[in-house]
Amino acid sequence: NIPVITIDGPSASGKGTVATLLARELGWYALDSGALYRLTALDCMKKKVDLDDQDAVSAVAAGLSIKFLPEGVFLHDENVSESIGSEQVGAIASKIAVYPKLRATLLQSQRNCRRAPGLVADGRDMGTLVFPDADLKIYLVADVQKRAERRYKQLMNKGFSVKLSSLIADLEARDQRDMNREYAPLRPADDAITVDSSDLDIDETVAVVLKHWYH
Ligand code: CDP
Repeated sequence: NIPVITIDGPSASGKGTVATLLARELGWYALDSGALYRLTALDCMKKKVDLDDQDAVSAVAAGLSIKFLPEGVFLHDENVSESIGSEQVGAIASKIAVYPKLRATLLQSQRNCRRAPGLVADGRDMGTLVFPDADLKIYLVADVQKRAERRYKQLMNKGFSVKLSSLIADLEARDQRDMNREYAPLRPADDAITVDSSDLDIDETVAVVLKHWYH
């Protein structure tokens, strides 16, 4: 059986960076499942799809042509690495992520990412629904203030201008929506290990996860 490590948790808890570094360290593949929701959001915006129409949004997801290349993320052969990182796209992704039909559409393509020698998958429901048989499940959390500061730096580095106060409000709103949605809510799997990264830098967080993996 091909091994999988899942990393779930709220926005800006460091999941994506930790998953990328961990995959590099182990020589495994990485799945950024949030990118699939973001790409669906971006394609809906481009196609002016009614975001309240669950069927239309799910059809967009079913028709996505995505390539993850070293040069960036390509949607229908266009490099969208910059635009998928915006807060606007993230906010729309979080809104459409409540649709069960959309989540069902994306399920198999996520499972297809499980390839030898192994996969590190990050998101909200990797350990609960997408890879319930994962070998190690991490639930990564951090104080909202710390997460907002990290997201602030990340967005400023990418050239997006944002206010810290509105980021905190946005993160809290997104956490609430992710935790309270009826289908696939954000929560730790029963067998997940919770790691609090509030006072850890990225390398220290990766080291904690590796310690659990080799334990
Ligand atoms: O960067 P951030 O953690 O804010 O978001 P992301 O991981 O890129 O995901 C964007 C949105 O997609 C999140 O706010 C979630 O609502 C949704 N999502 C989800 O529902 N399930 C996943 N496995 C991954 C993301």
